[in-house]
Amino acid sequence: MRFIVGVSGGIAIYKVVDLVRRFKKRGDEVRVVMTDSATKFVTPELFREISLEPVMTGVFGNEETAAHIKWAEWCDAMIIAPATANVIGKLAAGIADDALTTVSIAMTKPLIIAPAMNKDMFNSAAVTANLVLLKQRGVKVIDPSSGELACGVEGVGRLPEPSEIVEQVDKILNVNKKLSGYKIIVTAGGTREAIDPVRYIGNRSSGKMGYAVAKVAAERGAEVVLVTSSDLQVPPLVKVVNVESAEQMRQAVLSEYGTASAVIMAAAVADYRVANPSEQKIKKAEDTLTLELVKNPDILLELGQNKQKQILIGFAAETQTVEKNAVEKLKKKNLDMIVANDVTAEGAGFGVDTNIVTLITANEAKSYPKMTKIEVADIILNELENMLCKD
Ligand code: CTP
Repeated sequence: MRFIVGVSGGIAIYKVVDLVRRFKKRGDEVRVVMTDSATKFVTPELFREISLEPVMTGVFGNEETAAHIKWAEWCDAMIIAPATANVIGKLAAGIADDALTTVSIAMTKPLIIAPAMNKDMFNSAAVTANLVLLKQRGVKVIDPSSGELACGVEGVGRLPEPSEIVEQVDKILNVNKKLSGYKIIVTAGGTREAIDPVRYIGNRSSGKMGYAVAKVAAERGAEVVLVTSSDLQVPPLVKVVNVESAEQMRQAVLSEYGTASAVIMAAAVADYRVANPSEQKIKKAEDTLTLELVKNPDILLELGQNKQKQILIGFAAETQTVEKNAVEKLKKKNLDMIVANDVTAEGAGFGVDTNIVTLITANEAKSYPKMTKIEVADIILNELENMLCKD
């Protein structure tokens, strides 16, 4: 998820430093926007170091033009913590006179506020009325907890602990962490089978589908091991194992298999490799060159034969009689589900960002329209969640 954390000036700001750290640690992207008074408590540099993103402290002087609009578009949600009485008042009145309130008013995504202040301020008629108004407009409010306040008195007004804010934010946004506690192996890309030290036999698979599955699985809390022969940008919190050949992919997958809950084989594994790859670069000589190919191990078949409790999901990239071929592979390889797609269809298959798939299990086949590969990853992982939960 991408969060903007809006920080206004209150003592509780020290908890927000930890809040940003927690979001980052679990793979969320966070940008911080601070009010002027917030910068009196902590420096923007601190948030910059933790978030590894730019920090916005003013409407002017930002690197981007119209940064407030671009930031609002960039994020999935904005959380204002601590939200002072002043900021709450400005939000209610629609005043946008600094970076934080300008970003807030441009926000079309969920806006969550966590008020924190002295109990009398919190109970004041103005703050109470403003919060009612904001809630009516759809702003979500994380209620302050009670206890000893910074001013020394007891009462309601404390910013909840960062772990609790994260929990509440996830609840409000319906963030799904159902795969937490499960280790999932995902394979991606087309394997490369060496001909000589500089040449290989490859295929058109880009690896995008496997990377999308790895990304979404990690977002849902899974421990993801991505065994890949392509070099796309690794999604946050994903452990990557780079391989080239089918045999290397087999070794890498098998070494993680015993402790895995599921394997999703999105890789396009070469069925054959060169029998005797040359140790030296092959020189151009005769008019024809014959390469002898031998069969590669079928990784998924082997996983199916040695299955204990793991859920196995394969892909079937077909060019004809898609469903029939996919069902045969499902049975032969002892899979729980196979994702069938016609790689010749427009908007499906190799290199593109979309796919058109049918999810096939022993009991049913569900066909879907053209979707982004991230959306396809979502529906595959929904099915996987159901299968894992049945255990
Ligand atoms: N697969 C594998 N090892 C191989 C070949 C394929 O693990 N040597 C996996 C793929 O990652 C995919 C599934 O098996 O998840 C089906 O792959 P596909 O290439 O569609 O089928 P094949 O079994 O290779 O059969 P064919 O080439 O005859 O279509």
